[in-house]
Amino acid sequence: MTTIQPAAQEPTAPFLRACRGLPTTYTPVWLMRQAGRYMAEYRAIRAQHTMLEVIQTPELAAQVTLQPIDMFGFDAAIIFSDILPPLMGMGLHLDFIKGEGPHIDNPITRPYDIDMLATPPAEESMLPTLKAIEIVARELAPRNIPLIGFAGAPFTLASYAIEGGGSKTFAKTKALMYREPAAWKRLMTKLVTVQADYLIKQAKAGAAALQLFDSWAGQALGQLDYIRYVQPYNKALYDAVKRGTDVPVINFGTGASSYLAEVVACGGDVIGVDWQMPLDWCWQQIGHDKPIQGNLDPIALMAPWHELQFRIDDLLARAAGRAGHIFNLGHGILPETPVENVKRLVEYVHTQTAS
Ligand code: CP3
Repeated sequence: MTTIQPAAQEPTAPFLRACRGLPTTYTPVWLMRQAGRYMAEYRAIRAQHTMLEVIQTPELAAQVTLQPIDMFGFDAAIIFSDILPPLMGMGLHLDFIKGEGPHIDNPITRPYDIDMLATPPAEESMLPTLKAIEIVARELAPRNIPLIGFAGAPFTLASYAIEGGGSKTFAKTKALMYREPAAWKRLMTKLVTVQADYLIKQAKAGAAALQLFDSWAGQALGQLDYIRYVQPYNKALYDAVKRGTDVPVINFGTGASSYLAEVVACGGDVIGVDWQMPLDWCWQQIGHDKPIQGNLDPIALMAPWHELQFRIDDLLARAAGRAGHIFNLGHGILPETPVENVKRLVEYVHTQTAS
């Protein structure tokens, strides 16, 4: 005898509907790094508190998360944190240095360092962020605005842990990967454990969607190395998250448009694409049954309105009104971005796509 399953409740928020490929009354918009230095309200908080203080104080993180929602009417919030704090719980000394970005003063240099890394559960090492998610989710529930939780993908985190900060060539990371393949495997496996647990706990705390940022794998690696040194771990991570929660997961990376199929094969319900290739070309590679997020060049926001408008129109024409498009940038918004352009962009996308 077959039992009849009740129909799964369809979400009503446009962002969550788009994540599931369902039609929406307008195209949902949010921007990566939407809480940040381009906003005076953010700079005012940062004048009083360090980056880590904001991240580690749930009320401050919640306040900063909500600033761009109240100001611009985005269709989703993303919890204010960074991809790197989980490395602190593993034993790495992270700081954010003004004008320079993230810095780790005890980076991994040898296999022994990898074996010394801890893998604590998220409620031990990332509790302030889980608490911030609870606060924001409670605040946004009556407004039907979903909150996105996020984490860094293993390669991107490994690159910071090994280089000690940002890198142009990823030479130390790739040298360790080639010279110490067994240690690389142990490092990536530890990162999968920590990040899977962190993502699942964010969903349990109230995140309605999750995004995995693999910002640097595509920049650092060609297709062959991606398949050998990254894909198995990303796949394991998406599989683990899928077992732990049913919220939609966005798979975002940059620089991998020449091997999008391999990126898609890792997992994720939505594919976030960078700004290098046109959206219609990317969507064709990915398959139209898969929702897509992107992909305006963040620097287009620096252009005068008529030029920006032309690029938004072009992007919307490439999306062609298909269900499953989430409007976003192809990478994070820059501090120099004029606030006025962000405001106009959100309004314009909403009115142009309204049915
Ligand atoms: O999107 C959001 O609004 C949520 C917050 C968020 C931040 N970082 C805040 C932040 C998210 C999702 C990130 C992700 C992140 N962090 C990534 C992946 C996304 C991407 O851009 O590819 C990466 C690679 C990092 C690492 C990182 N953090 C760098 C390289 C820097 C320095 C560069 C910079 O913009 O200053 C940071 C610092 C950082 N993370 C800031 C913010 C708002 C600036 C800190 C400040 O206020 O001075």
